[in-house]
Amino acid sequence: MGDIRVREAGAADHDAIVQVLMASWGSTTVVVHGSVYDAAQLPALLAERDGRVVGLLTYTIADHDLEVVSLDAVVPRAGVGGALLSAAADLGRRVNARRLWLITTNDNLDALRFYQRRGMRIVAVAPGAMDAARKITPSIPLVGRFGIALRDELTLELQL
Ligand SMILES: CC(C)(COP(=O)(O)OP(=O)(O)OC[C@H]1O[C@@H](n2cnc3c(N)ncnc32)[C@H](O)[C@@H]1OP(=O)(O)O)[C@@H](O)C(=O)NCCC(=O)NCCS
Repeated sequence: MGDIRVREAGAADHDAIVQVLMASWGSTTVVVHGSVYDAAQLPALLAERDGRVVGLLTYTIADHDLEVVSLDAVVPRAGVGGALLSAAADLGRRVNARRLWLITTNDNLDALRFYQRRGMRIVAVAPGAMDAARKITPSIPLVGRFGIALRDELTLELQL
């Protein structure tokens, strides 16, 4: 198997990006901290291995902060997520962002482990934020990973 390569996505990657988002989340719409994003329209980093898309990170940059809106490894536990997060941090430093931050949910224990092992800190917890998000997007499930009730948003950040 070849190396994982990360590059900035271009217009020609739109279909592949939609495919990854749909497979992972069933939609390209991401509702976080009360904001609604069409992640397929955001700037993105793509991870590829042997010419195939193996991961996607979408982001926005505002107020000198880089927000990771979505991160998906098509092939898990092979270094894809780590490569994408590291590339996003490098990108943030290049544009003089002060921090990289993101939201995850209380049930996403894999993500909480993954981010904290990469130096990210939990800096805020919004109890009940997913209940509010469900009012915007009723299809958000009541029960998340590991059978845990999907209720809260956690903000994690990495100082750049
Ligand atoms: C969270 C997520 C992005 C992590 O991506 P990933 O590609 O699995 O991450 P990595 O492979 O870089 O690292 C995951 C683990 O695999 C291990 N790993 C990496 N390469 C490996 C390899 N070649 N062989 C064996 N294990 C490996 C790492 O040690 C790592 O363990 P750690 O997190 O305890 O440090 C992924 O689980 C995912 O897509 N989840 C679903 C979507 C999601 O929840 N996204 C986050 C929303 S906020």
